[in-house]
This record gives sequence, C-alpha cells and structure tokens, in this order.
Amino acid sequence: MPLTSMFYAALIVASLALQSSAAPTTTSSKYSLVADYSGSSFFNGFTAYTGADPTNGNVDYRSMKYGAEHGLLGFVNNNSTNSLNAYIGVDYKNKMPNRDSMRLSSKQTFDAGTITVMDVVHAPVAFGTWPALWMLGDVPGAEWPSAGGEIDILEWVHETPFNAMTLHTGSGCSVQNSTSAFHGQLQHTNCNAGQGSDGCSIQAPKHLATKTGTLATAGKGFNDQGGAVFVVDWTAQGVSMYMFARHNVPADIVAGKPDPASWNAVPVAKFSGAGCDYTTSLSDAVIIADTTFCGQWAGDVWTSSGAAAATGVKTCAEYVENNPAAFSEAYFEIRSIRVFADGGRKPGVATKAKRDVNELQSFPMISVGDRHNCTDAAEGLRSGMATGSYNATVIGLRESRRAHGHRSAHHHGTLTLSNHTTP
Ligand SMILES: *[C@@H]1O[C@H](CO)[C@@H](O)[C@H](O)[C@H]1NC(C)=O
Ligand SMILES: *[C@@H]1O[C@H](CO)[C@@H](O)[C@H](O)[C@H]1NC(C)=O
Ligand SMILES: *[C@@H]1O[C@H](CO)[C@@H](O)[C@H](O)[C@H]1NC(C)=O
Ligand SMILES: *[C@@H]1O[C@H](CO)[C@@H](O)[C@H](O)[C@H]1NC(C)=O
Ligand SMILES: *[C@@H]1O[C@H](CO)[C@@H](O)[C@H](O)[C@H]1NC(C)=O
Ligand SMILES: *[C@@H]1O[C@H](CO)[C@@H](O)[C@H](O)[C@H]1NC(C)=O
Repeated sequence: MPLTSMFYAALIVASLALQSSAAPTTTSSKYSLVADYSGSSFFNGFTAYTGADPTNGNVDYRSMKYGAEHGLLGFVNNNSTNSLNAYIGVDYKNKMPNRDSMRLSSKQTFDAGTITVMDVVHAPVAFGTWPALWMLGDVPGAEWPSAGGEIDILEWVHETPFNAMTLHTGSGCSVQNSTSAFHGQLQHTNCNAGQGSDGCSIQAPKHLATKTGTLATAGKGFNDQGGAVFVVDWTAQGVSMYMFARHNVPADIVAGKPDPASWNAVPVAKFSGAGCDYTTSLSDAVIIADTTFCGQWAGDVWTSSGAAAATGVKTCAEYVENNPAAFSEAYFEIRSIRVFADGGRKPGVATKAKRDVNELQSFPMISVGDRHNCTDAAEGLRSGMATGSYNATVIGLRESRRAHGHRSAHHHGTLTLSNHTTP
C-alpha cells in the first residue's frame, strides 16, 4: 500500500478504536482478538499486587481502591476522540519514605502464539524511578525464573533514553545474536544469565528511524512524541518486539487482523534460534504494569549513573522520599493493551497472583494537563541542587544472588546514556 494511503487508512481505522470488527485489510491473519484492555473497562482485567517489592524498592504498592481514592489510578480523557486512556501513577504530592505506587497484573494468562499490542501514550520518566511493562510466567508450583519466565517490553531507570527488552528464563534457553535481525544490542545470549537475574537483554537504540522521522525508545523523548505502540510477536520460533509510532502502526494490526509477515519492519529486539523452547521456557504469562523506586536497579546505579550528581542528593532513597514534585511525570498513560491469539485460542486464568480484595468498578478522571509545569518545578529543583553534570552513564549491576526472587534486576552490561549537563 502506498505510504500516504496507509497513513490515512491507519488514521481512519485508529479513530474506530481498533475494533476487531473493522474491515479487514487484504492480509491473511490467523490471529484474532482474545483480550482487550481499553476504555472504561481497562482496569476490570487487572488486579493490584499489594505485597512487598521483590526488588527491594522504596515503594508501597497500593490496592485499586486506595489508588482510585488517592489519584494513583484513573482515566485521562482523550478530548479528540472522547475516549478514555488508563492512568497508572504514583504519589507526587507527599513526602514519604516508601512512595505510593501501583503494580497491576492481568487476571488472564497468555502463551506462545499471541501478538500483544500495547499503545502507550506516556511512561514514567524521573530520577529514582524504575518503570516496566512486562509479562511474568504464572506456572503454579515453580519458582522464578523457571515458572514460565519473564518477558520485559518497556523497562528503564531514571531518565535514560534507552529502552531495554529482555527475557529471563530458567536454564536451557539461549538465543542467537543475529545482529541484522533487530535494531538493538544483545547483552547476553543466555536467558538464564546470572541465574536469570541478568537474562538475555537487548538494549534498544536511543532512536529508531521511521517513515516520518525518528522514534525515541525511552525517556523524555518518548513522552514528548506521545509514546509509542509496542507489538510483541511471540511464537514457538521466538519473541520479536517492535515499536511503532502511533500513525505508523501496520494497517492489519489497526484493523484487528495482525499478520506479521506483512509488516515489513525490523523489530527492536528479536529472541530466536534453536537454543530455546519458547513455548515452555516462557508460558502462562500475566501482563504487568508497575513503577518502583530505587531498589536493585535504579537504587544500585544511583551514583554510577550520575543521578546523584544531577540531583545533588546522595542516595536514591532520600531523593524519592523528599521530592514528591519530581514524580509528576512518573505515570503510565495507556490507550489500550490488546492480545491476539493464533486460532483465537482463549487466554488462561492467572492463579498465583493474590487477588486484590478491593477491586473496583469505577475510577476517577485524572487531569495531566498541568503536569509539565510540575516537571518544570522539578527541573528547577534539580538544577538548583545540581553541582555536577549528569554524566548519565548508567553502569548496570551484577546483582547478588537472590534466594527466592520472582522479579529481579538485571542489566549488568553498560548502558550508555545521553550526556546532558544540568545547568
Ligand atoms: C487521541 O486520539 C487521537 C485520534 O485517535 C490520537 O491521534 C491521539 O494520539 C490520541 N491522544 C492520546 C493522548 O491518546
Ligand atoms: C479535555 O477536556 C476537559 C473537559 O472539557 C478539560 O478539562 C481538559 O483540560 C481537556 N484536556 C486537554 C488535554 O485538552
Ligand atoms: C552481538 O553482536 C553485536 C554486534 O556485533 C555485539 O556488539 C554484541 O556484543 C553481541 N552480543 C553478544 C551477547 O554476543
Ligand atoms: C504553567 O505555568 C505558567 C507560568 O507559571 C502559567 O502561565 C500556565 O498557565 C501554567 N499552565 C498550566 C497548564 O497550569
Ligand atoms: C561518566 O561515567 C563513566 C563511568 O563511571 C566514566 O568512565 C566517565 O569518565 C564519566 N564521564 C564524565 C564526563 O564524567
Ligand atoms: C559529556 O559531557 C562532557 C562535558 O561537556 C564532555 O567533556 C564529554 O566529552 C561528553 N561525553 C560524551 C560521551 O559526549
């Protein structure tokens, strides 16, 4: 399809809110929609995890009821379509040693043979934060990372402009470094590296070239451009993760009939090769959105990344406790998460995640229109305190072994960040 008509087709169908009943394109798809988290029912598909953070962050994960009552959870109206985006945020008004946040987990599970499409408008970017959109195996009676592994789709710390896409699995899963097959850079071929803590991680480039410009994969650039659409194509042959600008999403996806063969796009990350069984090392995965603070990644690289120098605050914990306004941009705004399955195979039911006893049916409207001013306040605060330059070279950590983690830090490779200097 010529570029211009594809662009308009995408726009037109996008305005139909990606309904599966939209007219199919000429592609042949064996996939059909099996889960749709969007609009006013977005949160119905999730439960809130309220336990301790397995990565030892300075965070209190709250229930849905608490979140709705304290402005952590709600809807943002898209005035141009009069549709609702889900807002998943953190406290940015009060000083608190453990900052209030949410960790939402889907009630359904998914397996190989699915295409997951996440339309993300905004994601947390702030010193001290460690946000993630990811999938976690929910196999009963087994321990992480052997309980169906982990697939990380959006994950970063502080203000890094590099997204990291990662698989964490039990032993016996290694992937190929076919550098021409994806845009990012593979850190390890062994997805059990560091006993799963490091996993096989692919660092996305800072920007991807698109048909109409560039797409930032993380950081402030990600939010300034209005986010991106993530597409995870998980088959028995591997896991490919794509990022598209919203207006460049392939028309077959927009039409609800995804056909990967027609995309003609290079994924940001591709985990493939015969060294892994992608149907068993990874399985029964719930979808999770969470933001934690400090802990085993953001906290451990506080000094080495230059975040301490940039903020003028010695520890991540102190910064998170005392500077609420710095977290006004630490929120996810998600238009939709949709899962398509080969042959329409039905999702499974999550069994491990303890269900939030305070699940709700309705959520407040949240305004994000004034957030940039809060951010300016945070910038002012930060530059006022800053004494050095934000070198922004984050040295990942090799994490010490964790006896019984189910969510772990990783990235002991070096993530080189942009080198901006605070005035
Ligand atoms: C609002 O909807 C329009 C039309 O579909 C879309 O282009 C735009 O990206 C949406 N904005 C947000 C913030 O969701
Ligand atoms: C959307 O509309 C509401 C209600 O009219 C208004 O308060 C809000 O500022 C608008 N948001 C944007 C981003 O225009
Ligand atoms: C994969 O190949 C790239 C390009 O040659 C290289 O930079 C990277 O270190 C390799 N990764 C691994 C894990 O071998
Ligand atoms: C942001 O701050 C400026 C200057 O203080 C003010 O004029 C403007 O109205 C504010 N914008 C919002 C959306 O609050
Ligand atoms: C930035 O940090 C790296 C790693 O700690 C260090 O090697 C480099 O010299 C630093 N650069 C500046 C300009 O401080
Ligand atoms: C980072 O900034 C410092 C100070 O401006 C400069 O000396 C250094 O070369 C820069 N490093 C990179 C990698 O751009």
